[in-house]
Amino acid sequence: MTDSAPFERTLVTSALPYANGHIHLGHIAGAYLPADIYVRYKRLKGEKVLYVGGSDEYGVPITLTALKEGVSPREVIDRYHAANADAFRRLGISYDIYGRTSWDLHVDTTQAFFRKLHDGGYVHAEEMELWYSEQSDRYLPDRYVKGTCPKCGYTDANGDECESCGAQYAPQALVEPRANIPGDDSRPILRKSRHWFLDLPRFADRLRAYLDGHPEWRDNARGIAYSWVNDLRARCITRDTDWGVPIPLDDPEAAAKRIYVWFDAPIGYVTNTRQWGIDVCGDASAWELWWKDPTTRMVHFIGKDNVPFHAVIFPAMLMGQEDYILADQVPANEYLNVFNRATGQAEKGSKSRGNMISVRWALEQFPADVIRYYLCAIAPESKDSAFDWDDFMHRYNGELCDVVGNFVHRSLTMTMKNFDGRVPEAPVFDAEDQAMLDAIPAQVDAVAEALEGFRFRQALERFIDLGRKANVYFDAKQPWVTRKTDLERTGTTLHVCCQVVKALCHAMIPFLPDGASTLSRILGVDLPQGGPDGGPDGWNAAKAPLPAGSPLGTPEVLFPKLDRDRIAELAEAHLRGEAF
Ligand code: MF3
Ligand code: ZN
Repeated sequence: MTDSAPFERTLVTSALPYANGHIHLGHIAGAYLPADIYVRYKRLKGEKVLYVGGSDEYGVPITLTALKEGVSPREVIDRYHAANADAFRRLGISYDIYGRTSWDLHVDTTQAFFRKLHDGGYVHAEEMELWYSEQSDRYLPDRYVKGTCPKCGYTDANGDECESCGAQYAPQALVEPRANIPGDDSRPILRKSRHWFLDLPRFADRLRAYLDGHPEWRDNARGIAYSWVNDLRARCITRDTDWGVPIPLDDPEAAAKRIYVWFDAPIGYVTNTRQWGIDVCGDASAWELWWKDPTTRMVHFIGKDNVPFHAVIFPAMLMGQEDYILADQVPANEYLNVFNRATGQAEKGSKSRGNMISVRWALEQFPADVIRYYLCAIAPESKDSAFDWDDFMHRYNGELCDVVGNFVHRSLTMTMKNFDGRVPEAPVFDAEDQAMLDAIPAQVDAVAEALEGFRFRQALERFIDLGRKANVYFDAKQPWVTRKTDLERTGTTLHVCCQVVKALCHAMIPFLPDGASTLSRILGVDLPQGGPDGGPDGWNAAKAPLPAGSPLGTPEVLFPKLDRDRIAELAEAHLRGEAF
């Protein structure tokens, strides 16, 4: 549905990052910042919205990290769950709950999903041949085996897919396989193992109808989803491992295996909603409203690589449950690359290249708003974009500081000095005043329109545009000149400016929550918190006037400028691989 009118509440999810490493700015630009902006906007509007996230704690990414570090998987997930939850919190990513797939409750949710699909005849067992290391005496699922891609010849291809050309193949097709375990790169043998498969082809018609019903999705998600639906195969949803959710079947062969991480991970959204209901509402069935009521609108924010799981496989799993809703939107971002000053090229962020910027490192250097501003300004919504230090400094200093920050600051300091810290009286507006006042609701609505359409970059541009218009007005009215000759005129100008400052304060909230809270304190405006129960509309309240006579607090610099030398130093540190 393109029209959000029939919906009464919004359930927003962000992809659950693996708890096997620190989250980085690429993650944030992809699936977290846009979700948070959306959620903050909805809360401010007084709509009912719930934002669910958490750590993805099972599967090969975790056990391989544990093996490499020589620690237990439990130690890995505990460390990175805590670190990532903290990084999100400090960046202002405002989850209602940040859960864990290692929670006991998640076993229950996942097994219920599995059982329902199994009982419905959507899951069947099959004997298959898998790579097995005799040296380590174990099967080699997913990344535990590497080899040469049968399609493109890439020599670091995974067991069943090639990261270089995107090919997917049967494990036996892998050329020159080798074990990929610390201390074991032996040549594996093929050995039989029994596994359980989700019969995706049985959902083909329903999936196609589902996608047909969403022409409004971005092209990237639609394209990837259709190409999957046009070529559906049964997918193996179990693995030979002991790190995962146990398979709820009374079958001796199931005991030594676990449910595949990509089956349980999206169910984590459900588990975490259940846990939120228990913790926050004290109601073990509160989650059902969010997952089963057709008036709930579900939105999954993800990176592009997660599209098949969120636009095809998870919807099929939900269809098989019969009484669940499906996502109404799946905003999927492209990738945030990294501009390399040494080569003059944008390159993919990668651990081995050491070019990634972790959230925790970034937060040691900059306030959250600074990072949020730039990542939203260059959000990779329709194509890849790149983090570039010079661009970062110029955009932040030149747009946020010089346009919005400067306007707010000069308006408030002049009001402070000349009108005793109160919003001045404005007996009559001239045409320019009126045009400026009229621009406020128009611009606030334009920001909202872009946010509703998941165009966050454009929304931010429109927000900055209000600041631009306001600076043009300020410069035309020259209050610093009229102050000496015509105090009433000056008061009217600053009255109008105070109205713009107030609108900027409201409109800033989704993007720059810290700046907004400082400014709202100075203006003495109350910004409603909103949440799952909804509340008053504090978004459209941006358009309501700040009455003459309202007292103002002492102005502060909301967005301090970035220093050129400091940025150059940080860029060097980044180049040396120290930004992670
Ligand atoms: N952990 C996965 C990744 O980083 C994302 C899981 S999203 C979920 O790519 F929906 F499955 F949770
Ligand atoms: Zn390949």
